[in-house]
Amino acid sequence: MSTMEATESGGGPLKVTEELVPIYIMGKRYEVPASLTIMKAMEYAGYQYIRGAGCRGGICGACATVYRKPGDYHIRVGLACQTVVEPDMYLTQIPFFPANRTPVDFEALEGTPEDVYNAYPELFRCVACNACSKVCPMDVPVMDYIAAIKQGDLEKATELSFDCIQCGLCATRCMGELAQYHIAQLVRRIYGSKLAPHPAHLDTMVEQITAGRYVEALAVLMAMDTESLKKLYVEREMEPAMTPEDWTPQDSTYL
Ligand code: FES
Repeated sequence: MSTMEATESGGGPLKVTEELVPIYIMGKRYEVPASLTIMKAMEYAGYQYIRGAGCRGGICGACATVYRKPGDYHIRVGLACQTVVEPDMYLTQIPFFPANRTPVDFEALEGTPEDVYNAYPELFRCVACNACSKVCPMDVPVMDYIAAIKQGDLEKATELSFDCIQCGLCATRCMGELAQYHIAQLVRRIYGSKLAPHPAHLDTMVEQITAGRYVEALAVLMAMDTESLKKLYVEREMEPAMTPEDWTPQDSTYL
């Protein structure tokens, strides 16, 4: 390992020196600052993200990365935007992995497990090897939610899969050739729209929106120029950080 001493534009050294570590990106060796995430290290090494990056905050699942360490047979995984580099990691990104996604006529579905079985009969090819759960960077118990779907428990599958960020790494490891994350997404959509109890306040709000309650207010906003919109935004009444339970805004026109 060596150290980096960055220089300011005027030529004087910055106060911070940082340890450099070797990493291998698609087989090529680079030395990068040890504190960087994989994503920043790749950019430091000269790569430009055009695909395979989105939120940069661990939410969108666009930056799935696989890597190995020398002398270790394990395949390791991480999100490039969240995982800090390690010396001698050999890595590459999996920005997209082809996976079957069955189109469904959602309105025609009945909200039963058969909806899922008909769309994804390959579900029953799962041999419960658990490679999917092991590879998940979000620690989602993928094999368990697949088992719950097979048992017809869509509510349990919804809860177990809720933290999925659709990175697709599970599908890369599945010997049954499932695209687990697409199957779970259909389950959550079915559960959320056809099985979970509807919150009354949401139904009321949807009715009001459909009836055009906000059309006039939106037209006023659309007619404003950028500076006026910024001013309105900055001066808006904000909810206090420690909000009392009975707090309501002074202007309750659209509550
Ligand atoms: S860029 Fe969105 S999770 Fe990494």
